[in-house]
Amino acid sequence: MYSYLLTYDLKIGCIHAREWISPATVTYMMREMVENYAAHPEVVDNVDWYFMPLINPDGYEFSRTDNRMWRKTRSTTSIAGCYGADPNRNWDFHWAEGGTSSYPCSEIYTGPVPFSEIEMANVRDAILARASQLRIYLTVHSYGQMLLIPWGYDAVYPEDYPELEELGLAATDALTAVYNTKYDVGCSGVIYGPAVGASDDWNKGVAGIKYSYTLELPDNGRYGFLLPATEIMPVAVETWEFFKVLAERISAN
Ligand code: ARG
Ligand code: ZN
Repeated sequence: MYSYLLTYDLKIGCIHAREWISPATVTYMMREMVENYAAHPEVVDNVDWYFMPLINPDGYEFSRTDNRMWRKTRSTTSIAGCYGADPNRNWDFHWAEGGTSSYPCSEIYTGPVPFSEIEMANVRDAILARASQLRIYLTVHSYGQMLLIPWGYDAVYPEDYPELEELGLAATDALTAVYNTKYDVGCSGVIYGPAVGASDDWNKGVAGIKYSYTLELPDNGRYGFLLPATEIMPVAVETWEFFKVLAERISAN
């Protein structure tokens, strides 16, 4: 979406419908780059950003009109009269191996086959078209205030885990410095628990994007998915500092 110079960075929002703070925050990042360019030209000039602020649009719409707690897509592939699959259990890396469900009515239904969900297949294709140029993949969820590092399919650390952790800690430290919002940084399968077929694992394991992360935005459970709208700006402002560190570090090497 932005001018190419050195590297690419991909940001994905709202894979899960009810996590409304995700598209709000990702959209703010785009706005900050476009409307406040002069404050930080290097962020825009040195990195080529790709934003997908809303990758489960039907689910998001349904969460606004019918069921605020909707998580999945709205596909009708199911045989049980239930709609949708968990878009973050639908990726073809250790797909359906465990920590998920093959029952179509489950909140964490894998889908009938990997990439059964058209939205995820489209995102996959967009990534594969430029995979060798992508340095960072960041998928933005809520809630929990965690930065999750692969692997997530099991409690297994990738060989280069220390490098991912180092960058992750630098970025979350910058975030925390704004309003003292604390984030846990760690291996997904260890600090969150195993979940297979998620996009972060696929982007690292299949697309080969080294720095692949899942960011779980606020809060810690007080409001959970129902984060008040008054929190949008504070979350966006502090998360911007996280984004800036990723940009600085990735364009410096
Ligand atoms: N809240 C996310 C989900 O349940 C966390 C995914 C973390 N990544 C992983 N590979 N397990 O989809
Ligand atoms: Zn989520």
